[in-house]
Amino acid sequence: MTSTLVRRLTFSVMGAAAAIVTTVAAAPPARTELVVYKSPTCGCCNKWVDYLRKQGFTVVAHDTSGMTAVKAEMGVPDALSSCHTAIVGGYLIEGHVPAADIERLLKEHPKVVGLAVAGMVTGSPGMEGGTPEHYKVMAFDAKGKTTVFASY
Ligand code: CU
Ligand code: CU
Repeated sequence: MTSTLVRRLTFSVMGAAAAIVTTVAAAPPARTELVVYKSPTCGCCNKWVDYLRKQGFTVVAHDTSGMTAVKAEMGVPDALSSCHTAIVGGYLIEGHVPAADIERLLKEHPKVVGLAVAGMVTGSPGMEGGTPEHYKVMAFDAKGKTTVFASY
């Protein structure tokens, strides 16, 4: 092993240690990656993805023209269906769900399958513009039973 390589390895180990310390010391914990499935032609899906990134989420977006199949496979209740479907920390996120609710879900860890904002509500994140409508973020379980998680 050359001394240059040893030095480089030492630096990278130190760098990794420093990175860990930084992560622990920083106030907001590293957020779980959110994987989004969306139609390639849906503008509001992109806006929701941009919004989540601005809120500090790491988002991996997959375009697919088979959203109906994706929703059926993942178990999104028909009545709660929206445009995009996402997975974060083992939960399903359907539609334009606000970041604060996703954060609360990950923190409180309730026994639900996921959260949904059904349809396409004007004024929800990614659906800005126009007169904002009131809407509810619904939590749903495996049997399709729903409860109100948040109201806007
Ligand atoms: Cu949408
Ligand atoms: Cu969408």
